[in-house]
Amino acid sequence: MQETNLFADDNDQVDNTGLGEIQAGAQRIDASQKAMINAQSDVNQLLPLKYSWAWEKYLAGCNNHWMPTEVSMQGDIATWRAPVNSPQGLTEDEVLMLKRNLGFFATAESLVANNIVLAVYRNITNPECRQYLLRQAFEEAIHTHTFQYICTSLGLDEGELFNMYREIPSITDKDAWALKYTQALEDPSFTTGTIERDKAFLRALVAFYVVFEGMWFYTGFAQILALGRRNKMVGIAEQYQYILRDESIHLNFGIDCINQIKIENPHLWDDAFQQEVRGMLLEAYELEAAYGRETMPRGILGLNAELTEQYMQFIANRRSEQIGLGLLFDDVENPFPWMSELIDLPKEKNFFETRVTEYQTGGALTWD
Ligand SMILES: [Fe+2]
Ligand SMILES: [Fe+2]
Repeated sequence: MQETNLFADDNDQVDNTGLGEIQAGAQRIDASQKAMINAQSDVNQLLPLKYSWAWEKYLAGCNNHWMPTEVSMQGDIATWRAPVNSPQGLTEDEVLMLKRNLGFFATAESLVANNIVLAVYRNITNPECRQYLLRQAFEEAIHTHTFQYICTSLGLDEGELFNMYREIPSITDKDAWALKYTQALEDPSFTTGTIERDKAFLRALVAFYVVFEGMWFYTGFAQILALGRRNKMVGIAEQYQYILRDESIHLNFGIDCINQIKIENPHLWDDAFQQEVRGMLLEAYELEAAYGRETMPRGILGLNAELTEQYMQFIANRRSEQIGLGLLFDDVENPFPWMSELIDLPKEKNFFETRVTEYQTGGALTWD
């Protein structure tokens, strides 16, 4: 069935938007007919489920619901207003790092959301994965809301924050790198269904899930959580902890999607393509190293560009292994073991001891 569709010409395309003509009287579907891409079965029928991992992530995302406005910003406002380099305030280097970090995330969340809604969703032809993507899209909206809330709470310059991706070269470079992969899918008539177009879609999944959310967000989290550990900007640090928890599921969903597409379409994952993806991860590492230097030209307490490069090597190795490509760098140690502790922290024991609203009602979380 897959093979027929892969080489079908446009006239033979099965409707997998879910908005085509209803096939009245068609047979009931069997879960085995469902597929990640180029499915022949009706995408409007959630049950019977085929991919329980997608449904479980949808439930976990719902259990993790939070809103940025539940986190008090009083302490952060006091720290932000205190004179720079005073004992109550931030150092000059911390201010630079914080602003550029917020600037990166403020638009990164929108880029990720737009990629999901305008490029990924219509090419994934499975209803349980689409159900998760709808949840993820809402979470990205909450993340963008977080940067609006931080910006207004601290009285930051809106233009400076939200235009930073067009002003700070290392941020521009990262975003432009990822966009180039989603732009390949930009043509509204783009559909998967040939080897080349299926590979283009896989590249976009790697660029956004493995690199953007799976690698680049992690340096950003480490920067802010390092401040939080020293009791600085604890409101933002708590919000980042919630974002990290969401992103950990986004990343794992993306990895599961890629691996499932590989299983169903092994001809796409040939040696040349594997080398290409390894090359993408190495480029992403270089881009992140430049971001580290531009956000921390002189380092801050416990964190500097060299350590974040090492952290990125550690993370890149893990991501590469998760999609079956082995280690990219000689085995590196995690220079921030406290990141793992924070990632593994149960929600009820909030590290930063700010206000806690507990939404988790059960269901095991899988942390990366
Ligand atoms: Fe996000
Ligand atoms: Fe995300």
